[in-house]
Amino acid sequence: ERAMTIGVLFVCLGNICRSPTADAVFTHKARALGLDSRLHIDSAGTGDWHLGEPPDRRSQRHAARRGYDLSMLRARQVLPEDFLRFDFVLAMDRSNLADLERLRPGADVVTRPRLLLPYGSSGLLDVPDPYHGDEREFEVVLDLIEEAADALLAHIRTTRL
Ligand code: 4NP
Repeated sequence: ERAMTIGVLFVCLGNICRSPTADAVFTHKARALGLDSRLHIDSAGTGDWHLGEPPDRRSQRHAARRGYDLSMLRARQVLPEDFLRFDFVLAMDRSNLADLERLRPGADVVTRPRLLLPYGSSGLLDVPDPYHGDEREFEVVLDLIEEAADALLAHIRTTRL
């Protein structure tokens, strides 16, 4: 039994659509399993356009319909120290992953960023950016994130907790 918390950081481009959705979905699932006190869950963006803003209204509305509250989240940018503080740095798509590889400090103790979706079994690598999309794309984001979040939680539970 380890008292240490496991840090999980979800990362997308703007930190207003996909990664806050992943943050809230994963937090909700962890809480349902009584694991939330063992996890430090957060989200961030590689870009700086939306710093301090709440999640996109569309992301908030679609998530709320499934019982997830995104309203208190505020966008922040990925920091170099995130790679030291978080055990999992999870990119929403391959472009975010490439950006994270460039932002990652050189020291060998830092966490290597990974993609979120391969923890699940969708067979997909990228959560599509819904920002310029329609309602349907926000539902796809939720479907993909819910499936991968369950698998990620099972993975962390069996390997780290
Ligand atoms: P996200 O979506 O990366 O899922 O938060 C985006 C939100 C805003 C922008 C791009 C993607 N943007 O360019 O402003």
